[in-house]
Amino acid sequence: MKITIIGAGNMGGAIARGLAKSGTFAEEAITCTARTAGTLEKLRSTNPGFNLLTDNVAAVNGADIVVLAVKPWLMQGLIEEIKFSLDPQKQIIVSVAAGIPCSQIEEWLSTGMPWKGEFLPAIFRVIPNTAVEVLESMTFISAIREGMPQLQLINHIFAKLGPTMVVPESQISACTALASCGIAFAMRYIHASAQGGVEIGVRAADAQKIMEHTIIGAAKLLLEKGTHPAAEIDKVTTPGGITIRGLNEMEHAGFTSSIIRGLKECVK
Ligand SMILES: NC(=O)c1ccc[n+]([C@@H]2O[C@H](COP(=O)([O-])OP(=O)(O)OC[C@H]3O[C@@H](n4cnc5c(N)ncnc54)[C@H](OP(=O)(O)O)[C@@H]3O)[C@@H](O)[C@H]2O)c1
Repeated sequence: MKITIIGAGNMGGAIARGLAKSGTFAEEAITCTARTAGTLEKLRSTNPGFNLLTDNVAAVNGADIVVLAVKPWLMQGLIEEIKFSLDPQKQIIVSVAAGIPCSQIEEWLSTGMPWKGEFLPAIFRVIPNTAVEVLESMTFISAIREGMPQLQLINHIFAKLGPTMVVPESQISACTALASCGIAFAMRYIHASAQGGVEIGVRAADAQKIMEHTIIGAAKLLLEKGTHPAAEIDKVTTPGGITIRGLNEMEHAGFTSSIIRGLKECVK
């Protein structure tokens, strides 16, 4: 099986590296494209076995799966460029672009094509986050329509890059806010805590390490025990103690409210 990733920048490149690192595809079975040689050179330095091209038409030739990973506003032009070389009856199309529904991809792909109306192409929307690089992406997958037999394969492939969740497309924006935007929110929490740590006397590098492990520990507690965050908070908040004082002070400054407001802003 061969996969082509068109637009191997931050996300496309991370997916390619993740698929190679996890052993899901041999490097030779992965083709990546970009506009500039510089972007491809970066990939060559980490994964010399990748097929690296600036020619998208040549890149889709012979691929079983074609991942479209350019910026959303470049997607229509890209599809116009490659659609005559695609075989949507055989090839699976995966878009990672934020904000573009599968139906829009289908329309761009099928308009003016002789096969339009004769069969329905297999189109999936896949939203990973940047933790794909370390095989810990929380990835959402939506199919253009229900009951698509290729869903299992797509899920199987992206599950090698971290946990996956198959969701109706109507939920993709909300899930993207929680995970793809959420990874930035989690980073900000770590950074803010490290800054506070320095003020209370911990060296910056130590404070960051402490926070990285604290976040992993908190997430693992919930994941492995299946408990509610409030139950875990109860265990560490002694009446009149320092943790509840710190938490309540954060709430007075709008901690929970600011997170909810930020998430709502992401889906506007
Ligand atoms: N970053 C995230 O966390 C994240 C999460 C989920 C989804 N996404 C989606 O992933 C997509 C890519 O985002 P990104 O952050 O990875 O952007 P990026 O770093 O700018 O990567 C896009 C790549 O597309 C290449 N490109 C542009 N036009 C092309 C063309 N016609 N043919 C071939 N390659 C072309 C660019 O090549 P050059 O470098 O040579 O210019 C660039 O390397 C977006 O649609 C975004 O919505 C991103």
